[in-house]
Amino acid sequence: MENRKDIIQLSKGELGIDLFPYFEIAETAKKVSGQLHEFGYGDGLGDIQLRKEISKNLLKHGIHASASSILIVSGALQALKLLSVGILKRGSTVFIESPSYLYSIYLFRAAGMQLKPIPVDKNGFDVEELSKQNIKNNLSALYVNPTFQNPTTTIMSLQKRQLLIEKCQYFQLPIIEDDIYRDLWIDEPAPPPLKTFDQQGQVLYIGSFSKTIAAGLRIGWLVGPESVIKRLSDLRMQIDYGSSYASQMLVKELLSSGLYEKHLERTRNRLKQKRDFLLHLLNQHLVECATWSKPSGGFFIWVTFTKNIDTRKLFKECLNSGVLINPGFIYNDNYRTIRLSFAYPSFKEMEKGILIIKELLANHV
Ligand SMILES: Cc1ncc(COP(=O)(O)O)c(C=O)c1O
Repeated sequence: MENRKDIIQLSKGELGIDLFPYFEIAETAKKVSGQLHEFGYGDGLGDIQLRKEISKNLLKHGIHASASSILIVSGALQALKLLSVGILKRGSTVFIESPSYLYSIYLFRAAGMQLKPIPVDKNGFDVEELSKQNIKNNLSALYVNPTFQNPTTTIMSLQKRQLLIEKCQYFQLPIIEDDIYRDLWIDEPAPPPLKTFDQQGQVLYIGSFSKTIAAGLRIGWLVGPESVIKRLSDLRMQIDYGSSYASQMLVKELLSSGLYEKHLERTRNRLKQKRDFLLHLLNQHLVECATWSKPSGGFFIWVTFTKNIDTRKLFKECLNSGVLINPGFIYNDNYRTIRLSFAYPSFKEMEKGILIIKELLANHV
């Protein structure tokens, strides 16, 4: 359904075609085509020039990571897969946010992990609740997405980040920090990554260009202690021999030429317009039956119905009317929420979609 062109995708977590950097990609592809020389199986860690560019970029966020502590992966999802197969022990408990990024849940379960949900409310992850858990040494890990969390778009405050790191150090609980929305701030940059407070190599840090450039590039990265990165790069070679060389070259050039940064500036402005437009539509049409918070970055608005609305029914009715939404019940047992994207749909589609939802809701209450 996510790829159907005939429906309004109010659900999709990708930049819309109005935000796709055609010019930057076309210019860069031309430039890179003159530089392509090696098309063999690459280094297990990924192209060294790309790793150096990512290392430079991470420094802007306060992360000191040498090129040898960075593994290029085919998207953040592959980093999670490698960690769950290569580092976490089968039967371990993975503490996850509730609600959490959907595919991470499937992936950890498939790798034989027990999942323990910790609530996320409008102030983000509940650190106190985590401290009350039975955290077993060597058999537990925490997976968090502290910046513009998917699906709620909440942001973990600086104080909470510091507290979380303290607790995790005390319990010796490794953290998998998924930070793929960081560059997509709208109002102001987010507090520093958890990784910047990590003195003991306890945080495994994941990023990706799927949300900022294009998901089809399949380029992301994982930062961790060199021994862990080396082990995972060996495992990774057994899985797929590394990420596409052409994609790696393209991203390397986008970073080194400064076009990535320029594209981000334009994207932030456009996302601000799109977010404000969706907020305006919600205020105009859904204010009587729902609440939401204004996200300060990312792609989504997390809407909570204040009236007794059956979101299972609403989801089906929306689909029959040509609108795809993400109902909260696909993440956990919350039947009163929906996730709406302002990144993918056009202004016109957002307006049409919200009017259809409004009309359908009139029959619910
Ligand atoms: C929090 C989070 N992590 C990871 C991913 C997957 O990213 P990638 O395309 O880099 O594999 C997504 C995609 O929606 C996501 O929202």
